[in-house]
Parts: sequence; C-alpha cells; structure tokens
Amino acid sequence: MDKYTIFGNPINHSLSPKIHKYFAKQTGHLISYEKVLAPRDNFEGYVRDFIFSGGRGFNVTVPFKIEAYNLSDKLTTHAKTAGAVNTVKIEDGKLYGHNTDGIGLVADLCKNLEQTVKDKDILVLGAGGATKGILLPLLEQKPARILLANRTKSKALDLANNYSKFGKVCGFGLEQIKDKPVDIIINATSASLDGAMPDISAGVANGAFCYDLMYGKKTPFMDWASSNGAVRVVDGLGMLVEQAASSFEFWRGEKPETIDLLSALKEIAD
Ligand code: ATR
Repeated sequence: MDKYTIFGNPINHSLSPKIHKYFAKQTGHLISYEKVLAPRDNFEGYVRDFIFSGGRGFNVTVPFKIEAYNLSDKLTTHAKTAGAVNTVKIEDGKLYGHNTDGIGLVADLCKNLEQTVKDKDILVLGAGGATKGILLPLLEQKPARILLANRTKSKALDLANNYSKFGKVCGFGLEQIKDKPVDIIINATSASLDGAMPDISAGVANGAFCYDLMYGKKTPFMDWASSNGAVRVVDGLGMLVEQAASSFEFWRGEKPETIDLLSALKEIAD
C-alpha cells in the first residue's frame, strides 16, 4: 500500500484524508492517507521521517506551504510561479513540488460551476499567499483582465507587476475599486478568518459571480455579496475537492471524478 499524508498545523479540520480515500476507492488504487500535525519548528524533520518510512507523496497546508517550496528539489511551473507548494511527490528520495490550489479553483469555476473566465473581468481581493496560488491558473484562462485589489496597495502593485508577463493584471488599493461592475469577484483575503469583510464599495458586487476561497461556513464576504446583488455566491468547497483531485493525478497518473463526492460534501455542509 502506497503511503500519502497531509502535514499542517492545525490539521484536525482537514477533509483531505476522506477525499483521497474516496478517490482511491473510486479508481482502485491501493493507498493510505493520514493527517499529521507537524510542529511549526520541525516540519522538515517530519518530512524526512515520512520519506524514510517509504512515503510516496504528501499535501501541505497552513503554515508549511512556503517551507515545502523551499525544501523541494524540483518544482512544477505552477509551484514556481506561486512561490508555494501544496503537493509533493517523492521520487528516488527527492521532493518534486507542485501547487494545485489555483488549478482546483479554475476546475471548480469552469467545470462544476460552468463559469467562463475567458474574456471576463475578474476582481481578486487580497495579495497574500492565497492570491499567489491562484493567479497563474486564472491568467491561463485568458480573462480580459484581473483587477488585483488589496488593503495594502503596494503589495497589489508588486504582485500585479510580477504576474504581468502572464496576462493583463493591474494592482489597486481596495478604496480605488469603485462601483463599476465586474464579472467575477474572488475573495482571497484572510479577512473571513477574523470574521471581517474587506472594506470595498458595495456596488461592485452587483451582477457579479462571487467566490470565497474559504469553506466550512458562510463568510462575511458571502453575506456582503448576497445582500449587494451578486448573481451567485459560492464558497471554496469545490476548490478543495478539485485541488485534491489534481494532487491525486500528480501522484497516481489518474484523475478521479469529483461530481458525486462534491454533491455529498455539499449535502453534509447544508
Ligand atoms: P494567505 O496565505 O491566507 O493569503 P497572507 O499571505 O497573510 O495570508 O495574506 C492575507 C491577505 O488578506 C492580505 O492580502 C491581507 O491584506 P494586507 O496585505 O493589507 O495585510 C488580506 N487581509 C487580511 N485581513 C483583511 C481585512 N480585514 N481586510 C482586507 N484585507 C485583509
């Protein structure tokens, strides 16, 4: 049986073992997948022990994605561009780092939610790690442009500048986003974790498809979008399932089906 795991701190809430065990059963792959609470000051030690024990690959969640990037011997383009790794394949004792977060978001948007990204105006809120993980896969869909708005404007400007070689992306301070409607708004800030909503003009939500990367409970962003005329408001559960499917494919060479699992998880959440 091939061994996989997810490292995080905290990790108790993680749905990844359930998701990967479901994928393994569906595809007939013999794998184990556990969740491991790694100490903040010894992630590398835990990774080395896992490799020593014959581990074939692992996922990484908060707060270890940058450390996993730094530990990787080889990186995919998506990991390199994101500056963070959420999926590692172990090959001959070496770490091959990948990032499936943005790939998962795009799969959820385009496949499950049937949203076209091509030629659309997309407003992304936030300029931290979560935003870095999604920008390249979004730009690969060739949107008309991405407006990157952040509370600290300089971070949005820097990030937009770094990604401008991949497509049209412009940085703003939150206060610069006026009521001109956009097609899709993605909340990639960590404001929801503090029960807060980025301070942004309400008119921009009117007629927009609004997506929060968070999942598990209704966020202030989702309430804001619903009460300001959004056409649809969704959380990041679909992204979670799709990024896991993409990790599974990276490790096992076979892409699992996600639709039934996603429906079942949504039913539990409702
Ligand atoms: P993550 O890895 O989750 O992206 P991060 O790298 O610390 O975490 O980034 C958090 C992002 O959420 C930042 O863009 C932050 O804005 P600042 O750069 O101005 O700090 C944004 N953020 C957090 N709380 C926010 C709030 N209450 N309102 C608006 N933006 C917020």
